[in-house]
Amino acid sequence: MHIVITGANRGIGHALMSHYRAEGHVVTGTSREGGALAQLDVTDPASVAAFAQALEGRAVDLLVCNAGVYLDKHETLTKGYPAQMWADTFAANVTGVFLSVQALLPNLQAAQAGKIAIISSQMASHTRAPGGSYVYRASKAAALNLARNLAADLAPLQIAVGIYHPGWVRTDMGGDAADISVDESATGLMARFAELGPDSTGCFLTWDGRPHPY
Ligand SMILES: NC(=O)c1ccc[n+]([C@@H]2O[C@H](COP(=O)([O-])OP(=O)(O)OC[C@H]3O[C@@H](n4cnc5c(N)ncnc54)[C@H](OP(=O)(O)O)[C@@H]3O)[C@@H](O)[C@H]2O)c1
Repeated sequence: MHIVITGANRGIGHALMSHYRAEGHVVTGTSREGGALAQLDVTDPASVAAFAQALEGRAVDLLVCNAGVYLDKHETLTKGYPAQMWADTFAANVTGVFLSVQALLPNLQAAQAGKIAIISSQMASHTRAPGGSYVYRASKAAALNLARNLAADLAPLQIAVGIYHPGWVRTDMGGDAADISVDESATGLMARFAELGPDSTGCFLTWDGRPHPY
């Protein structure tokens, strides 16, 4: 398989890239810095266009929209959550997902049965709403909504779309106190991506295979 993973220079994206490569798959991992990975800033339309151009004519079997930011972890309701934080978060977590999918649609169509995995979060859920992190929660809810609607539009093209909570994972974002390692998360997510198909498109699942309430 040829797999594209956004935000593969660290965290969950890096673990997914390593595990897939160890299984012998071809992985195009991206990084904002470029370097050994393909350069991509999902918030920059010109960067997305250049990335898509570099992959022109190559089938993509699986696109993992993993890149994301959690900027409002320490904000307070009375004085925090500035407008720019909303704009920057939505640019990465929502618009960035859409632009990545849109740009690689020809590559996904060129695959036998292309798949899109969108890494959202349990913090997207309306039924689990403990308060706080308004910006991140709203952005991940938007990504969930976006993915559900992409699933409908892409079904006739035989492209399946799954939405995933990767667990609370020990990364820069998740912190040291989180529940699981990047390897546990990646292994679980890979099993979920393998199961994804026309019958399950639009699913919202946890890394370990439990349906997540919307
Ligand atoms: N960790 C958790 O507990 C947890 C829980 C639920 C959901 N998630 C989601 O899982 C995904 C991965 O999280 P993580 O914990 O691995 O986070 P992380 O360690 O902070 O890594 C985030 C990755 O996204 C990249 N990124 C951020 N903005 C980008 C942009 N504009 N363009 C391209 N790449 C960008 C980062 O690149 P740079 O190095 O350049 O910043 C980095 O590679 C995210 O979508 C996150 O919201 C994580």
